[in-house]
Amino acid sequence: MTDKLPIIDLAPLSEGEAGLERVAGAIGAACRDVGFFYVVNHGVKRDLMDDAFAEARRFFALPLADKEAIAMRIVGGNRGYSALLGEALDPTRGPDLKEAFNIGFDLAPDDPELLAGTPFRALNAWPAARGFRKTMLAYFDACAALGLRIHRAFARDLGLPLGFFDDKFDRPMATLRLLRYPAAPNQSDADVGAGVHTDYGNITLLATDDVGGLQARRRDGRWIDAPPLTGAFVVNIGDCLMRWTNDIYVSTPHRVINTSPRERYSIAFFFDPNPDAEVAAIPSYLTEGAPKYPPILAADYLKQRLDATYLERRIEPEGSK
Ligand code: OGA
Ligand code: NI
Repeated sequence: MTDKLPIIDLAPLSEGEAGLERVAGAIGAACRDVGFFYVVNHGVKRDLMDDAFAEARRFFALPLADKEAIAMRIVGGNRGYSALLGEALDPTRGPDLKEAFNIGFDLAPDDPELLAGTPFRALNAWPAARGFRKTMLAYFDACAALGLRIHRAFARDLGLPLGFFDDKFDRPMATLRLLRYPAAPNQSDADVGAGVHTDYGNITLLATDDVGGLQARRRDGRWIDAPPLTGAFVVNIGDCLMRWTNDIYVSTPHRVINTSPRERYSIAFFFDPNPDAEVAAIPSYLTEGAPKYPPILAADYLKQRLDATYLERRIEPEGSK
């Protein structure tokens, strides 16, 4: 088992069939083993990544009242600001020392699904900062395109038609989440930035600054570091893809502990399926026996998982959005 997360070069994806085969093999091996890997030459422009981090820093530096004005409980649809200690990714451990801002799939005010009240369809809320919206929407789109390319490699590795995931992700419940972890006041591990958890969707594309603190738990239970790798994305498998593959791919538990005297910024792109996509074991994987999980609609699954994470919703379920 690997001590170091694999680094996968995506450049061959634009070199035709042989390139796809090679990348799919490397990605498939990582997904069956540790469920975490880095991608480089991924096609998302470095300037865009830098701009997104610059905007995130500016956003978190705003007065608390400005951030609270677009709080998740006001905005709804899993969008908006979530304050320090407002969530517990590992509820046995207590609240996370982090703050966050979520942007979802962007919709026009007259979008039919929005008007129909489809789950997780909502308007995004934006801070007043000039440039924020444009940068974040460009970053969101770039991540979604990268997510789809990576899904083509999954499809190849899993023996599925290449476009298998395309129509399950064309209006995804994707979430772009800016995160800030305050500097550690002391070197103890008492302050967990993000408690142990698995992600809920198919994959997460994570960009981090150079502070470090992300750790992943291998199948054998050992924790390994996922140190910062400049310009790369850390990709990890989430629970929906694990269900789809009947546990062939691993959704790996991970956590963030910022023990550094510096604050830490990261940007996660959670690539969750369309709300009405059915997440059900792919038939080619049923040879080992019955499906391990009953089929579930992606929106129902995401709702269950989010409700367990937000402290506010657990305390006041009737106020949940
Ligand atoms: C998450 C997560 C890691 C990080 O938000 O689900 O695992 O480095 N974040 O911020
Ligand atoms: Ni996570």
